[in-house]
Amino acid sequence: MVNLKGRDFLTLQDFTYEELRFLLDTALELKRARKRGYFEPVLRGKTLAMIFQKPSTRTRVSFEVAMSDLGGRALYLRWDDLQLGRGETVADTARVLSRYVDGIMARVFSHKDLEELAKYADIPVINGLSDLTHPCQILADLLTILEKKAVLKGLKLAFVGDGNNVCNSLLIGCTKMGMNISVATPKKYRPKEEIIQWAMENAQESGSKVEILESPEEAVKDADVIYTDVFVSMGEEKVAKEKLQAFQGYQVNRELVKHAKKDYIFMHCLPAHRGQEVTDEVIDDPVHSVVWDQAENRLHAQKAVLALLL
Ligand code: CP
Ligand code: NVA
Repeated sequence: MVNLKGRDFLTLQDFTYEELRFLLDTALELKRARKRGYFEPVLRGKTLAMIFQKPSTRTRVSFEVAMSDLGGRALYLRWDDLQLGRGETVADTARVLSRYVDGIMARVFSHKDLEELAKYADIPVINGLSDLTHPCQILADLLTILEKKAVLKGLKLAFVGDGNNVCNSLLIGCTKMGMNISVATPKKYRPKEEIIQWAMENAQESGSKVEILESPEEAVKDADVIYTDVFVSMGEEKVAKEKLQAFQGYQVNRELVKHAKKDYIFMHCLPAHRGQEVTDEVIDDPVHSVVWDQAENRLHAQKAVLALLL
């Protein structure tokens, strides 16, 4: 029996295949419950503190609605409005919040701050995006792929673009679940070596394959899923010009998707910079693009995380 109560959710690497599968199955069950219009108020009386150091649409709204659907409530706390913004330490903030609330979700610049929060909080800490990973997003993505393709094991996902937090979490999530992943990035923007190492180890265990390439065409060849994300992430505005230059040729467009399987699906964590990493015709393609279902699934996947951890 899988029991996740009290655990942190910082990266998918901390979870086994069985635990991730249990989270996905719970999410599917909660999604069906929402369609029926009924939820067990399993989080009645529980409060989630949500700390944001960066902007958010999906993460903020889906966590807030998830808490209220499950009978609890969420507090939206901007980093700069807390004493954190005036230099109170992350450790002290973690100790204090642990006396008031039942869980902390945080979106931060530095992953180290999440680890510090988790170290000093007595309650679960959930990663709502850091510079290193975005596990809530990828849990929702796996849920979406499972719904669209009925299986995960053996599928090929191609990620084209920046070796960023989303790419890192896809490398971990796909290989944990037995999916093959091919990443195409310019040399300078490869995913982190430590993450590639984790993915290789997972792949060995789950019987999948990892490719880190430079050619988008090669990565997308025969893919079941094509995934991209912005070239310039939040906090990278200063290097935007240089990055946009480096990513020429990495756009997911009508020409590139021709290399994928006929029934490929297109995914993007959003927000999209239309005309940069993806063209309108690909993201708005009514047959292949699943980005709105993907965004919706943030709600159901996070409900599973909240219900099982809190
Ligand atoms: N995908 C995602 O995390 O979106 P937000 O930045 O809007 O939360
Ligand atoms: N890589 C993007 C993801 C946004 C959800 C960023 O970090 O800005």
